[in-house]
Amino acid sequence: MIFDTHAHYDDKAFDEDREELLTRLFAEKVGCIVNQGTNLELSKYGISLAKKYDTMYCAVGIHPECVDENSLKELDGIRQLAGHEKVVAIGEIGLDYYWDIPKERQKAVFEQQLIMANELAMPVNIHDREAHGDTLAYLKKYRPKGILHCFSGSVEMAREVVKLGMYIGIGGVVTFKNSRKAVEVVQDTPLEALVLETDCPYLAPVPFRGKRNDSGMISYVAEKIAEIKNISVEEVLAVTFANGEKVYNIRSAEK
Ligand code: NI
Repeated sequence: MIFDTHAHYDDKAFDEDREELLTRLFAEKVGCIVNQGTNLELSKYGISLAKKYDTMYCAVGIHPECVDENSLKELDGIRQLAGHEKVVAIGEIGLDYYWDIPKERQKAVFEQQLIMANELAMPVNIHDREAHGDTLAYLKKYRPKGILHCFSGSVEMAREVVKLGMYIGIGGVVTFKNSRKAVEVVQDTPLEALVLETDCPYLAPVPFRGKRNDSGMISYVAEKIAEIKNISVEEVLAVTFANGEKVYNIRSAEK
């Protein structure tokens, strides 16, 4: 069974067939999905969606791309949502230096959410785009539990993240032609520290690159990891499923 540790089923790309698709995925090969929050409103929506499926959960949080002048004030709302039984993490939070969003504001919102996660004893799901140095500094300072999603750093950074007790999120990117860095990270990182993810609707694996991604396509990511590590696909799926349950404190999500 597949554990998708990072999805965005609130996205407009799923408006036409969201419930039909999720029902089919859960009936087939997907055992568990954790939907990520990007702002206050969509975090609320994520809870309402997760409530409809036994093994769908969600994270609540403010994504760095959604940070604006109101974000710090909205964190009380995020804290309230975090108490819901379907909420298993604070996410998607982090730093994005690719887009032109004021860095100081991003850092303040990220830092407050790391503090909140620690106070609530909840794991985090971290977004780090072109912000490796600052992200790692915050992880070392606050020592949260959780996942560094869509990992794009070096082997050395992956080792540091794993040493901090965090998991490395691997998705469609590892199947891309120019994925040398991601392949090296998978090679070097023990399977016990990897989790699988889609970031859907984005980052569909080869042979669906550029198309709408969904949790079922994680099979291709698992196949690629099995090939890199020279182990069976079944082992990749079983170990990463157990890792997902562990990092999100979900007891036997697989039915
Ligand atoms: Ni995401």
